[in-house]
Amino acid sequence: MDTTDSLSEEILRNALGSARFGKTVYYFPAIGSTNDFARELASGGAAEGAVVVSGEQIRGRGRQGRRWISAPGAGIYLSIILRPGLPPANATGITLLAAVATARAIDTVTGLRPGIKWPNDILIGGKKICGILTEAGSDRAGEKYLILGIGVNVNNDEFPPEIRKSASSLKMRLGRAVSRKKLIVEIIHRIEESYPDFSARGDLSKIIVVYRRFSVTLGQQVRVEGYRGGFQGRALDVAADGSLLVKKENGEVTAVRSGEITPLIFSSKK
Ligand code: BTN
Repeated sequence: MDTTDSLSEEILRNALGSARFGKTVYYFPAIGSTNDFARELASGGAAEGAVVVSGEQIRGRGRQGRRWISAPGAGIYLSIILRPGLPPANATGITLLAAVATARAIDTVTGLRPGIKWPNDILIGGKKICGILTEAGSDRAGEKYLILGIGVNVNNDEFPPEIRKSASSLKMRLGRAVSRKKLIVEIIHRIEESYPDFSARGDLSKIIVVYRRFSVTLGQQVRVEGYRGGFQGRALDVAADGSLLVKKENGEVTAVRSGEITPLIFSSKK
């Protein structure tokens, strides 16, 4: 572990400066899951922008009930409480916003060029570097909230055998350690920058322009796994609400709102 990269509430608060997000920061050397702790805070009425960071997660959670490997001191395990003024159905776009913010932050801090696999996996060299888990809930006063959970493989030197082929870290790609602090600050500032348009009007238009540039899915033949057994087609574009437009072999275009897609031939160098 890089000892110059230590984290604490004070270090994070000072590094975030006057950012609106992160005025309230919780840091734990280890925790079950930052998303779970953020949920407890939000249920009790915690304000938008509260940030939870941990050095390690014992029960880090991924999408679709999967585990998120959260080795001590190696990655970023970050959750942010959000309270957008939008109905929950329109709030799903936050994951695209977070993916763009994180991809741009990785680019700025490391010079690496990440790709985004729809909807929000960040890959480098075809291997996963970052995952995003957004969860919705209501607090005791009935007010809705979102927990935006972001996990980045930063300074991992290895992964367990079951994900070794599919996961990588920034350090593995770059050949040197990366400051988690710098990256956390950059991610939070980027989210803060694009959040007002989204929160007020659900407007993702500027985000989608940048999303297209980072996408490794558009133009690809993909398989969409859905509740009716799935289908294949060409990923054409991302719609205004963030859904993926896929042209099936019979010419019909379907908007895919959620689910897992698999590229049939992975041709991108990202
Ligand atoms: C995925 O499956 O791709 C999503 C992974 C999300 C992991 C992050 S780490 C911080 C937050 N806390 C969790 O337990 N999960 C998310």
